[in-house]
Amino acid sequence: MPERLAPIIEVRGLGKAFVQGDHRLSVLDGVDFYAEEGEFVSIIGPSGCGKSTLLNIIAGLDEPTSGTLEIHGAEAPDRLGTVGYMQQKDLLLPWRNVMGNAVLGLELQGVSKREARLRADSLMDQFGLRGFEDQYPNALSGGMRQRAAFLRTVLADQEVFLLDEPFGALDALNRSQIHEWLLGLWQELNKTIVMVTHDVDEAIFLSDRVYVMTARPGAMKLVAPTELPRPRRLEMVTSPAFVSLKAKLLSTIREESDQGMSGGSA
Ligand SMILES: Nc1ncnc2c1ncn2[C@@H]1O[C@H](COP(=O)(O)OP(=O)(O)O)[C@@H](O)[C@H]1O
Ligand SMILES: [Mg+2]
Repeated sequence: MPERLAPIIEVRGLGKAFVQGDHRLSVLDGVDFYAEEGEFVSIIGPSGCGKSTLLNIIAGLDEPTSGTLEIHGAEAPDRLGTVGYMQQKDLLLPWRNVMGNAVLGLELQGVSKREARLRADSLMDQFGLRGFEDQYPNALSGGMRQRAAFLRTVLADQEVFLLDEPFGALDALNRSQIHEWLLGLWQELNKTIVMVTHDVDEAIFLSDRVYVMTARPGAMKLVAPTELPRPRRLEMVTSPAFVSLKAKLLSTIREESDQGMSGGSA
């Protein structure tokens, strides 16, 4: 039997608690998760269940309290900066223009200013930012700000991208355009994407697999392959496979938010 490659990210029994004074908040408890090379995986879960915390840990901004995280089959204590991460807030620097924000990650990696600008310039068209290189974030639409933040993430050229609610600021109209655009980019770049979203349609439409988390302390409650052919087409959102998976995900999410309201702090 051919040897199976280790998943690019593998999380087992991961727990995270935040301690403040004598108060201990258990945020993640027993999370099992993986993403294979080239996969597009989405995570959905109730607000506050620890989704951003999980991405922070995978990115290396934080460490788990228990359990293991492996990257390419090995623990990776020095992973910070090796995983592309677009955080929930776009975190563009208001005093830097689009070009200045785009090259930030490369500058931090020690790439020369000239080289960084050349690389950013080569992607401006593809990211729909050509002509806006000199604009400052406050002059951009929400969609453009997110594309600028995404450009910065992509330029850092890691094999994995973690995207935390990357399209939260967009209306439905903009969303379907950016979905097509993202899928095109993902196929071209051949990267692994882990995306947190609260939009079930978005998760199904884009992903190979969708995870649904429990209320806090978060764990994986359901993992479902989407089983839709690629390339994805807009018409697929009315296909039986799409509709039945959507119903399953929505009822799982509903169960969790009901529990969150009746249990939790009561
Ligand atoms: N650094 C931190 N210190 C203390 N509590 C935190 C910290 N980061 C997150 N939390 C708490 O952990 C819980 C989960 O947060 P988060 O991961 O942002 O949830 P989600 O992204 O699923 O909405 C929240 O109750 C939040 O207040
Ligand atoms: Mg979050």
